[in-house]
Amino acid sequence: MAKKKSVLDFYEMKKKGEKITFLTAYDFPTAQFAEAAGLDMLLVGDSLGMCVYGYSGTVPVVMDQMIFHADAVRRGAPNTFVIGDMPFMSYQSSLEKAVENAGRFLKEAECDAIKLEGGVRIAPQIKAIVEAGIVVMGHIGLTPQSSGQLGGHKAQGRTAKTARLVVQDALAVQQAGAQMILLEAIPPEVGKYITETLDIPVLSIGAGPHCDGQLLIVSDAIGQFQAFTPKFVKKYANVAETVTGAMKDYVAEVRTGEFPKAEHCYNMIAGEEEKFLKLIKK
Ligand code: KIV
Repeated sequence: MAKKKSVLDFYEMKKKGEKITFLTAYDFPTAQFAEAAGLDMLLVGDSLGMCVYGYSGTVPVVMDQMIFHADAVRRGAPNTFVIGDMPFMSYQSSLEKAVENAGRFLKEAECDAIKLEGGVRIAPQIKAIVEAGIVVMGHIGLTPQSSGQLGGHKAQGRTAKTARLVVQDALAVQQAGAQMILLEAIPPEVGKYITETLDIPVLSIGAGPHCDGQLLIVSDAIGQFQAFTPKFVKKYANVAETVTGAMKDYVAEVRTGEFPKAEHCYNMIAGEEEKFLKLIKK
């Protein structure tokens, strides 16, 4: 069994140019599969709002939901670095609330780190959480919790001026003490510049191939999430098709009587059937 990696291992991997592998996970079985596949880190993302609960976005997700799912993932992947994602309004309104909710991921779900969205404007929260002794991953570029302000789920930093704003956010996150950062949906040129400029490991979800590691939403990567597919997604399986196909076969076999067969039934202990028939006739 591979040893669980720490944030120091991720710094070392950045130095050596070894890519960090990163997926989301929301439940026990998926976490088991991910650990068996050798993932370096797992994010219990608030994307579970869409991928598990069927909400149209991440905004309705609350802390308790995140803790329940993080706890399940922790049990499924005991030897993998697990990051809990701070949901909307669990850190924005005050530093105290941010520290308290970040701490819940460690105390109640044994997470190794937390992630939160925002750059310059969320730097005080990052600093406060880091000062409480918690490993923080920043998240900038397209930040889904504030997609209303961004005019939707749109790529960021596509002009020189907005790319500079993304770089300023990245610097603010590092300066506030975050030990890792995630860049979402920005051009590869900007991802490359930030990766080369920052000392901390830089993860990408739609930020090009130059970053220190790559993240995908597991429900996208295995072809489970149906509502939409962002440009940065590559599907490695078609679980929706496989599972729907299996369910259709089941429905057909139950309807025709093909299932269950004798091999799916429990035999009575020898001699008990006769006694049973006598008993029920009394
Ligand atoms: O919740 C999540 O899975 C995320 C990714 C979109 C980066 O934050």
